[in-house]
Amino acid sequence: MALSKIFLTLILLSFLASAAHGQLSPTFYSRTCPNLERTVNMMMFRAIRREPRMGASILRLFFHDCFVNGCDASVLLDDTPTFTGEKNAGPNLNSLRGYEVIDSIKSQLERICSATVSCADILALAARAGVVFHGGPKYVVPLGRRDARTASQLAANTNLPPASASVNTLISMFAAKGLDARDMTALSGAHSIGLARCTTYRSHIYNDLDVDPAYAAARKQTCPASGGDGNLAPLNIQNPNRFGNTYFQNLVARRGLLHSDQALFDNGPVNGLVQLYSTNNSVFYTDFAAAMVKMGNISPLTGFNGEIRRNCRRVN
Ligand code: HEM
Ligand SMILES: *[C@@H]1O[C@H](CO)[C@@H](O)[C@H](O)[C@H]1NC(C)=O
Repeated sequence: MALSKIFLTLILLSFLASAAHGQLSPTFYSRTCPNLERTVNMMMFRAIRREPRMGASILRLFFHDCFVNGCDASVLLDDTPTFTGEKNAGPNLNSLRGYEVIDSIKSQLERICSATVSCADILALAARAGVVFHGGPKYVVPLGRRDARTASQLAANTNLPPASASVNTLISMFAAKGLDARDMTALSGAHSIGLARCTTYRSHIYNDLDVDPAYAAARKQTCPASGGDGNLAPLNIQNPNRFGNTYFQNLVARRGLLHSDQALFDNGPVNGLVQLYSTNNSVFYTDFAAAMVKMGNISPLTGFNGEIRRNCRRVN
C-alpha cells in the first residue's frame, strides 16, 4: 500500500514535470495503455490491406493537422451549425480522407483504455504505421499530445502550402513552423506514396517548362485540359506503393507530379539535397524520420491544456 502511494506520487510528479515543460515522451502511455501501439499498427495494417491508399491518406492527415495550430487533432473536428472546423477549408475539402479509419481506431482504444489516448496521438502513430507499412523508416513517436477544443478554417486556408508554391514559398511556409529547408525537402518525400487529383497538377503538366515531355504526355491521357478534375494519378510514377527515394529520382528525371514537387529540383536552393536523396536512400530515411518527429512537435497541447476527446469528431 505504501509502495503504491509512492508509485502514484511518482506518476503524478512525472506528469507535472512533463506538463511544465510541455514535452512529449515515447513512454507516455506505457502504464495507462500498454497495447496502444500494437493496436494502432494492427488496425492501420488492416485498413491499408482493405484499401491500399489509406496509409498515404492518413500520413497527409497528420501533416494537415500539425501545420494548423499544431498537432492537436483540430483537423478531425466536424463542422456543425455553430462550429466551423477545418475539413471544408480549401486544401482539405474533397481531398483529405481517412477520418473513418481514425474513428474506428479511436473506438477500439476507448474499449481497451477508456478516455486515455488523445486523437492527436492516434494520428501521429497511425501516420507512422502508414510509412512503415510501405517500407519507410521506423522511428519512435513521442506522445502526450492533447486534443484541441477549437479549430481554425482560416489557419487551414493560409498555413498549408498550395501545389502552386515556389521553392522559396515552401521554405518560408515550413520555416514558419520551425522546420528548415532540409526538413521540408525530406518531408516532401512523403509524396513517394499516394495519389493526387488532376486539378492539383493540370497546370504543371500543361504549362510548366520543367517537365519531361513524355511524362507530361502520359499524364495528359487521364488529365484533360478541361474536365476530369477529380481524376487521380500517383504522386510517384516509379513505385507508388513503395515509400522511398524513387520520389527524388523522379524529380531528377523531371517527373514530379505537382508544381511544388518539381520546384525542389529546378536549379534552386535544395537541388543538391534532392540529388543526394535520389542516390542515397538511407540519408533520406534518417532525415525523413527526424523531420517527422520535428513536425510532430509543432505546438502540442500538453499537461492540463486541451482535453482527451471521447469522439475525435467533436469536443467533449
Ligand atoms: C511541401 C509542401 C506540400 C504540398 C504543396 C503538398 C500538396 C499536396 C497535394 C496538392 C496533394 C494532392 C491532394 C489531392 O489531389 O486531393 C498531396 C497529396 C499528399 N501529400 Fe502532400 N504536400 C506537401 C507536403 C506534404 C507533407 C509534408 C506530407 C507528409 C509528411 C505530405 C503527404 C501527402 C500524401 C501522403 C499525399 C497523398 C494522399 C492520398 O493519396 O490520399 N505532403 N499533397
Ligand atoms: C549514404 O550516406 C551515408 C551517410 O553519409 C553513408 O554512410 C553511406 O555510405 C552512403 N551510401 C551510399 C550508397 O552512398
